Amino acid sequence: MRVFVAGASGAIGTRLVDQLIGRGHEVIGTYHSSPHADRVAALGAKSIMLDLLDPAAVRQAVLDAEPDAIVHQATALANIRFSRQLDTPFAQTNRLRTEGTDALLAAAREAGVTRIVAQSFASYRYARDGGPVKTENDPLDPTPVAGTREMNDAMRHLDAAVTEAGGAALRYGGFYGAANDGLVGPVRKRQMPIVGNGAGMSSFVHLDDAAAATVLALEQNVTGVFNVVDDEPAPLREWLPVLAIALGAKPPRHLPRWLARLIAGEGAVMAATEARGASNAKAKRELDWTLRYPSWREGFAAAYQSLRSA
Ligand SMILES: NC(=O)c1ccc[n+]([C@@H]2O[C@H](COP(=O)([O-])OP(=O)(O)OC[C@H]3O[C@@H](n4cnc5c(N)ncnc54)[C@H](OP(=O)(O)O)[C@@H]3O)[C@@H](O)[C@H]2O)c1
Repeated sequence: MRVFVAGASGAIGTRLVDQLIGRGHEVIGTYHSSPHADRVAALGAKSIMLDLLDPAAVRQAVLDAEPDAIVHQATALANIRFSRQLDTPFAQTNRLRTEGTDALLAAAREAGVTRIVAQSFASYRYARDGGPVKTENDPLDPTPVAGTREMNDAMRHLDAAVTEAGGAALRYGGFYGAANDGLVGPVRKRQMPIVGNGAGMSSFVHLDDAAAATVLALEQNVTGVFNVVDDEPAPLREWLPVLAIALGAKPPRHLPRWLARLIAGEGAVMAATEARGASNAKAKRELDWTLRYPSWREGFAAAYQSLRSA
């Protein structure tokens, strides 16, 4: 297959390109920051520069590539600083998930491509009632907390637009598996506390497992929404101390809800105390996906072994 990967230079993009090429596919991969051109080419892909927010450029790039399949892995989350209003640091990513998705889908339509897979997100989105672990059939949060509505709307848009176009929206768990993962710095500096009872659930996925599920979704040409998460959704109070140990950091501090709300905002308190996790039963069943790291317990230890000894 000839696969057009938007966002090929990123954390998930690079692993995906590597695995696609390893399975004999041809890849045209896009980057956005000029120093990243070599990253994609070094993996054996054709590397092109693309701004997904430029629809004319997206159209031309897709038509020129003549792909059999299109993947959307573009986000603007590297090095973001979380703020009390999460919609603010996510603004560019929200545009990539709405305008960027629409531009890619329009180009796909014109190029006659229906094999499409796009990056969505599973954690912190499902309705905050009922059991702790949700399937793709369970409702999303109808009333996202203040400061997170735009990001929730953008992910809903992506899920709906991609599946209506016959593609698959992969609701990944929180990515980990690289030295510069978003949680590494804050946990090492003890800036990430257990808030309140720490009962909020998170779902994680190792980047290698996420890439493997993406390859399977492409090869099997599936349609619909899939939670691409590991086997063990877990409350903050369980996974955070394990992550701290894996990173050789001191144990996390504890913070009451009211203080966390003042410092970090509603979104952070919701994630820490009320969020639901996601079930991967559908992805395992329908994609025949086998995880190398079924739980973050062994995944964190493996991913950060070198950091710990450094
Ligand atoms: N996925 C989530 O919802 C989420 C949430 C919170 C934190 N994070 C953190 O973000 C990282 C996730 O990895 P990722 O692969 O999603 O992100 P990433 O490593 O930042 O990769 C994003 C990709 O999108 C590309 N891109 C950025 N702006 C673009 C634009 N305007 N047009 C086209 N392409 C554009 C980037 O290109 P260049 O690299 O060339 O600029 C890169 O290829 C992890 O470190 C994780 O901890 C993710």
